[in-house]
Amino acid sequence: MKNYTTIKDISNLSETIKGAILLKMNPFELSEIGKHKTLVMLFFNSSLRTRLSTEKAAKNLGMEVMILNVNDAWNLEFEDGTIMNIDKSEHIKEAAQVISQYADVIAVRAFPGLKDKARDESELILNSFKKYATVPIINMESATAHPLQALTDAITISELTEKKTPKVVLSWAPHPKALPQAVANSFVEMMQYLDVDFTITHPEGYELNTEITKDTTINYNQEEALKDADFVYVKNWSSYTDYGKILSEDKNWMMTKEKLGKAKFMHCLPVRRNVVVEDAVLDSNQSIVIQQANNRTYAAQVVLKQILENL
Ligand code: CP
Repeated sequence: MKNYTTIKDISNLSETIKGAILLKMNPFELSEIGKHKTLVMLFFNSSLRTRLSTEKAAKNLGMEVMILNVNDAWNLEFEDGTIMNIDKSEHIKEAAQVISQYADVIAVRAFPGLKDKARDESELILNSFKKYATVPIINMESATAHPLQALTDAITISELTEKKTPKVVLSWAPHPKALPQAVANSFVEMMQYLDVDFTITHPEGYELNTEITKDTTINYNQEEALKDADFVYVKNWSSYTDYGKILSEDKNWMMTKEKLGKAKFMHCLPVRRNVVVEDAVLDSNQSIVIQQANNRTYAAQVVLKQILENL
């Protein structure tokens, strides 16, 4: 693997999932593969899981890890040809090449602004690192995608399914803040690759990018969509069509034990209790959110392994 910026960078998904499950059984099997190699992790935004699991994954492979909260460094300019006489001290052209002197792999987290759809969809920060860095780039959640989370979710469903073709439902939930579509986008793309019966349910107006959802079933009736589900993935996202807006805070979309039925409950975390999902779900043995969080390590580890093998 050259870079991991989208799930399309995975050349063989079933082998990658199997590889992650094998690494989970024996995490230190390849503890020499990353010897004398350094992962630099750059955070433009907050993180708990991605930061810790990716660091753990790299260390399991014997890598050194350096972390920079980019807001503590020089303010970066991303536009070409600007006169840098205001607040930006360093251009991405130098910064990405300089970081590449210290890194064998660079991982980047950079959320969207949710104000300007075209700008967010250009993935300016992620793509600038891809363009100017001289080492592989990993996406730790960008404006439109969270491929490490989606790989984690595929691993978790593969581990826990009792059926060849489980029914998986992505169910929108209310949230007081406008959140990105990145997790939902990558989850949808991942489900399109897996052998699952997949449905998305959300209020009207919350349609995701149709270039991503393609012909995936969308049902505006949550109760109907959830019928006989095996896995229910709950997530909020702000409107894509009325870009970045909160169109509904309808509490009826919160996931409850009654609505969940016999399904397993999934969420990428962090999650707001009794807003997105009620306590009774998270505190039940139907919730697999902690297994998901654990699998973040092995998703990152299998990706780093494949990148290291290609260096
Ligand atoms: N799911 C996820 O990416 O968590 P963090 O934002 O804490 O990294």
